[in-house]
Amino acid sequence: MELHLENLPKTVEIGRDADGVYFEYVDQRALPGELRMERTRDWRQVVDAVKVLAVRGAPAIGLAGAAALALWAAYAESLEGMRDAAEVIATARPTAVNLRWAVDRALAEVGDMPDGAGIAAAADALFSLVEAMQVEDEARNRRIGEHGAGLIAPGSRILTHCNAGSLATYYYGTALGVVYAAAEQGKVERVYADETRPVGQGARLTSWELARAGVPVTLICDNMAASLMAKGEVDAVIVGADRIARNGDVANKIGTYGLAVIAREHGVPFYVAAPSSTVDPRLEDGRGIVIEQRAASEVLAEPIEGVEVWNPAFDVTPARFITRIITEDGAFEPSALFG
Ligand code: MRU
Repeated sequence: MELHLENLPKTVEIGRDADGVYFEYVDQRALPGELRMERTRDWRQVVDAVKVLAVRGAPAIGLAGAAALALWAAYAESLEGMRDAAEVIATARPTAVNLRWAVDRALAEVGDMPDGAGIAAAADALFSLVEAMQVEDEARNRRIGEHGAGLIAPGSRILTHCNAGSLATYYYGTALGVVYAAAEQGKVERVYADETRPVGQGARLTSWELARAGVPVTLICDNMAASLMAKGEVDAVIVGADRIARNGDVANKIGTYGLAVIAREHGVPFYVAAPSSTVDPRLEDGRGIVIEQRAASEVLAEPIEGVEVWNPAFDVTPARFITRIITEDGAFEPSALFG
């Protein structure tokens, strides 16, 4: 297998040209058909991009949130109204804590500036912060990859759910970061990508990303995972996370919980890979995690009279089903995450 990670785009990136600050992102709704890059100077467009899943995945929406505030500051006349804009940005989606974490970090950056510093200084500080957060994101992902690869045996067939890849981060990915690091060590035979109903992040994004990076990938429907495990075809499951509570309960894309239960039944290790920015130290356990409810149209394109739709975007996997949580600091038993 020859890896081609250079074929993967930077998913989100802040930049500056003669007309000022801009934010560029892959519009993930257009994949796999088209690798469409969008460029905007309008912070509200960034908020919309997060809401409609043009930009999605916990670390990527965190970076987009900080960048949205940087755009707001770049084109504002004074600092008045910044906290209101920050609140609009931070509440674009409720489940991934990375969004709130990144916006709070951006606010703190400006809050720490000396009295009397103006909007121009704040805009510069936020631009530099977002650039630094992008570099940090990739570095964290690569460390997650190194820690995770140590858990992967040679010849592994790995099952993943949703997209916790380069497309969900600035670059490299979390769960797929582990796959890339293990593949670089020659340990990955194949990745099985769950389709991930109803939005199809696995079908549209993970399979595209892995094929583009040169990793052998087989797409399956979500309801095929149990049969695959029963046949002995899966050596490990690796997924990402949107929010992790202190006790190691993990919120991730809907369907993750079921996969963890199936993995336990078949004796397959179940790994969660996420940066420390996904850990929410305020939450004792997963019961406090707000689960985003999304439109019925994602499940049922044509409404049927008399039929209601339940469409939670995430579920919570209890810590007891998780073999290790892999962060940039190491691979932990869920109960040991908080030392
Ligand atoms: O609704 P999405 O596509 O934003 O959901 C994304 C996920 O659930 C990912 O698995 C998670 O954010 C980890 S991304 C590194």
